[in-house]
Amino acid sequence: MSSQKIKQTVDNTPPIESKVRRSLLNGLWMALSGLALAEIAWLVGSFLKPLQSTDSSVQAADIIDAGPVDRFAPNSVTAFPPGRFYLACLEDGGFLALSRRCTHLGCTVPWDPERKQFACPCHASVFDIRGEVIQSPAPRALDRFAVSIENRRVKVDVGTPIRRSAFRKDQVAHR
Ligand code: FES
Repeated sequence: MSSQKIKQTVDNTPPIESKVRRSLLNGLWMALSGLALAEIAWLVGSFLKPLQSTDSSVQAADIIDAGPVDRFAPNSVTAFPPGRFYLACLEDGGFLALSRRCTHLGCTVPWDPERKQFACPCHASVFDIRGEVIQSPAPRALDRFAVSIENRRVKVDVGTPIRRSAFRKDQVAHR
């Protein structure tokens, strides 16, 4: 009788391989949980980290070298599609960089070299070579970008358009 009891007890004990397997699975589960937590912590940290907007390569990309001043004839307009602006060389040789966005509802305004004006195809606003409104509904002059002349080359800062209500002589950069 007692030998039967002992035999039953021995039969109910889980085999050693099963214990080892369970222990391995627990270890694997703990490792995966730790990895997932580390990944979540990294994602949260990246999200909260402030953006570095003062990167010098980004700042350099905002300045477009339009070329030597002599390349532009007085009373002409040159389009710079990558910079989304027109470089207007006025009658006196001064430069204005004009946004190509209409100040009415934002359509792109093409330059008409025959008429020497910008004519918006959307609602018929018209601007002169200085970006001044000739015909509404545009409420104000085309925005402009800062122009500087360095070593007789025209540089345009396309980082931020400069909003203006009308043309003024002090907006023009001279050679
Ligand atoms: Fe140019 Fe309306 S968007 S006139």
